[in-house]
Amino acid sequence: MTAPHGKTFQTPSLIGCEITGIGAFAPETILTNDDLSQLVDTSDEWIQTRTGIKQRHVVSGDQTVAELAIKAAQDALACSGIPGDEIDLVIAASSTPDAIYPGTSCQVQHAIGATHAAGFDMALACTGFMSAMITARQFIQTGAARNAMVVASDIHSRFVDWSDRSTCILFGDAAGAAVLSASDKDSFLSYEMRLDGSKGHELRMGTYLSNCPLVTQRTPAQEVVYLKMNGKEVFKFAVGVVPHSIERALEKAGLKPGDIDHYVLHQANKRIMDAMAERLDVDADRMVMNLDRYGNTSAASIPLALKEASQEGRILPGQKLVLCGFGAGLAWTTAIIDWSVVDQRSASAKQIQKQTAECLEAH
Ligand code: UT7
Repeated sequence: MTAPHGKTFQTPSLIGCEITGIGAFAPETILTNDDLSQLVDTSDEWIQTRTGIKQRHVVSGDQTVAELAIKAAQDALACSGIPGDEIDLVIAASSTPDAIYPGTSCQVQHAIGATHAAGFDMALACTGFMSAMITARQFIQTGAARNAMVVASDIHSRFVDWSDRSTCILFGDAAGAAVLSASDKDSFLSYEMRLDGSKGHELRMGTYLSNCPLVTQRTPAQEVVYLKMNGKEVFKFAVGVVPHSIERALEKAGLKPGDIDHYVLHQANKRIMDAMAERLDVDADRMVMNLDRYGNTSAASIPLALKEASQEGRILPGQKLVLCGFGAGLAWTTAIIDWSVVDQRSASAKQIQKQTAECLEAH
């Protein structure tokens, strides 16, 4: 490898990074399409036909992003069988945090007892979990961390305009998490991580509001805080850019679309996933979908779908997966995964461990 100043250096050998645990949590309260039709001029028929969504989970009472994140992280830890104090990196992806600081990562670190961990927050909307996972992998590959907790939690019900029928019907609240560990194996066969800020205005949430006395231009908070989306443009971006990203990542891994057992894509719209299946020429049943029950849960959508599909026995160790997050930024991250998670709480995991121990003893 040649550095920019002309010196050559040896590429260091990197440590393998395995996904060892997956977890998720969705709040109990369910909002159906019929419930929404009491709020805005919409119908169950329109929402199902245009998006594939039937219902979504939303927070109630005093539930917070950190609380959802902690529950998902605890689930992923239990799945991995790794104690909290062996986690040395926590990355939290959220674009709807409870506060600008302290970060969600700090609250998760404290709650799971990761007493020696480093960490930080990442705000990359629906791409957040994927980008956080690829970042955590770099820490593991270089030996900077042995075990990492990647957690994604979003509460969009706080930030949608409940009078805007084009956006309020789309989103749900949830959290998802994964544990990544140093290993002889590497779960990541390839990845692509990209941004296109030129289209950032198509999907934005937040404020230009300033309390600085020197700033003269002030915008009414209501106008800017709520999520605003040009749905058609974001749809075009998703079906245009994302399949190319998947094709490039597959090529890097030396695989073809047909070699992939399951596609776990950001759960934004069933029509987007159907279009991707068609474009990649794979059966629609290879697309893992749970947005009918959860809606678009932003950063949480991929780990939530992974957790459910693996719990149902649909995604199995040894299978190859395409994971792809995309959305505001605009941003997208694709990874080709050799799935390896065996839930340490399950009877079969204990059986596999017992057989391995007996086998090792016999030799
Ligand atoms: O998570 C980040 C990534 N996000 C995405 O990937 C989202 C991508 N975009 C989409 O999924 C779709 O664009 C939407 C689901 C948001 C919208 O679907 P669409 O087929 O693009 O609908 P549209 O915005 O073109 O609206 C069509 C019609 C309009 O009426 P007119 O102007 O044709 O009379 C809308 O006013 O549907 C109307 N409409 C609704 N009608 C009933 C929009 N929302 C609703 C609604 N109920 N909830």
